Amino acid sequence: MADQSMRGFVEALRARGELVDVGHPVSAEYELSALLGLFDRGPAVRVENVTGSPMPVVGNLLNSRERLAAAVGCEVGDLLSEITAAIAGRQAPEVVKDAPAQEVVLGPETVWDQVVAPRWFEQDSGGYVTAALILAHDPVSGMRNASYARVKPLTATTGFIGIAPNHHLTALSRSAGALPVALAFGVHPAIQLASCTYLGLGDDELEHASHLLGERVRVVKATTSDVLVPGDAEVVVEGLIHPDQVVHEGLVNEYHGMYEDYGNGCTLEVTAVTKRRDASMQVILPGLASEHSYIAGIPIAAGIKHALRGAGCEIVDVAVTHAGGGRVDVVVSIAGGRPGLPRRIVMGVFAAVSMVKQVTVVDADVDVWDDVHVHWARTSRMRWDRDLVRIDAVATDRNVPMQEGGTVTKVGMDATVKPGDRAVGPRLAVPPAAVTAGVLEELRSRGLAQQLAPALVLHGSLTGRGGTL
Ligand SMILES: Cc1cc2nc3c(=O)[nH]c(=O)nc-3n(C[C@H](O)[C@H](O)[C@H](O)COP(=O)(O)O)c2cc1C
Repeated sequence: MADQSMRGFVEALRARGELVDVGHPVSAEYELSALLGLFDRGPAVRVENVTGSPMPVVGNLLNSRERLAAAVGCEVGDLLSEITAAIAGRQAPEVVKDAPAQEVVLGPETVWDQVVAPRWFEQDSGGYVTAALILAHDPVSGMRNASYARVKPLTATTGFIGIAPNHHLTALSRSAGALPVALAFGVHPAIQLASCTYLGLGDDELEHASHLLGERVRVVKATTSDVLVPGDAEVVVEGLIHPDQVVHEGLVNEYHGMYEDYGNGCTLEVTAVTKRRDASMQVILPGLASEHSYIAGIPIAAGIKHALRGAGCEIVDVAVTHAGGGRVDVVVSIAGGRPGLPRRIVMGVFAAVSMVKQVTVVDADVDVWDDVHVHWARTSRMRWDRDLVRIDAVATDRNVPMQEGGTVTKVGMDATVKPGDRAVGPRLAVPPAAVTAGVLEELRSRGLAQQLAPALVLHGSLTGRGGTL
């Protein structure tokens, strides 16, 4: 029986020197936000004493591709294919009777004593719970769902819940009238990642976590509903979403790093709180933060790769960039394409995810995850009059930067090499690939390869995908 908790991963990070333990008191009023912001691209952080929290708080857990790969036990280059395999396969969770997540059962009035809602940014309309993985069960259709959404405390037993209108959680809550949900904090990263995949309405993300976890997800029935909750969670808040009890939200930060004013959202009524005896709380630094970007963007990238599988060429890699908040800016690398295929790729990405505002298609010798490399490809391999695809007034999501009245202009950039573009050809100035491979092998055998930081232009040599055209 594998460990399905967050705590195992936290300990593994500590053992690898990738966790900072903070012992001094940290206020939930902006101090925690500043602290996590200062370690945004660095180690995970565990704060023993957050004022207003009865338990330690963990943040910046999954703030890089390397961390996500480690969490699901694969190489970073295999992360997307592991998630696409999880999207393709499903296994019903295993329902258990007793679970650590229910060692302590408390009344709804304890919720905001147990669950800290930090103040993150200056103009936010209040404190927000940001790492609530929301499990839902629609008693009308029987459908289940797992996804993240923010929650802001309102009264002693209620909160505001902000869900985008096109999300499945919104569809389920409209269907049910009052939708039974459970907010799970501190579950295994594989379950967190699976919950961020884009599936069809009614597809239960928990069924897709098993491939990443290596076994079925263990779930326990909530104490006040039929919602199934990951049994190894640290803390669980049970409740009902009331879509008709609307509340005005006020300003809130978004993934693009700016504020939004979305107007009304719905109410969460808390019905119970359960937790482990020695629980920890998880938080995710919101806004344009690394963890918020990668935990959302990598599953979207895997979903896009899956959606493009019939596009007519090899899809080598897909990035949903941090610059685009892990949502709106996509880079796809391809091999074996023919004229016009990059444009088809652009349209395929727009069709797959409505939030995407811009797509760049590059050759396989470009590292899609390196912004400098991608920008180099745009700068060096594009003729803007020929290689830019522009589609005006496309319906999109309310959160997309610069959308106006629900539409936005979308662009595709074909930054692949075309025959005859340069008199001396597109070849990169690099040492012979075989020599680079030999030097690398020698460094590895002598234990000198730990600090490698290869030049961008060596990407093709290192992946065996150099020599465009
Ligand atoms: C940390 C985190 C926080 C998120 N917060 C919100 C949020 O507050 N509101 C929202 O609509 N989506 C939020 N999202 C995005 C949704 O969880 C995501 O789009 C999800 O795939 C929607 O799934 P669904 O359509 O199955 O409900 C968040 C994602 C992450 C990773």
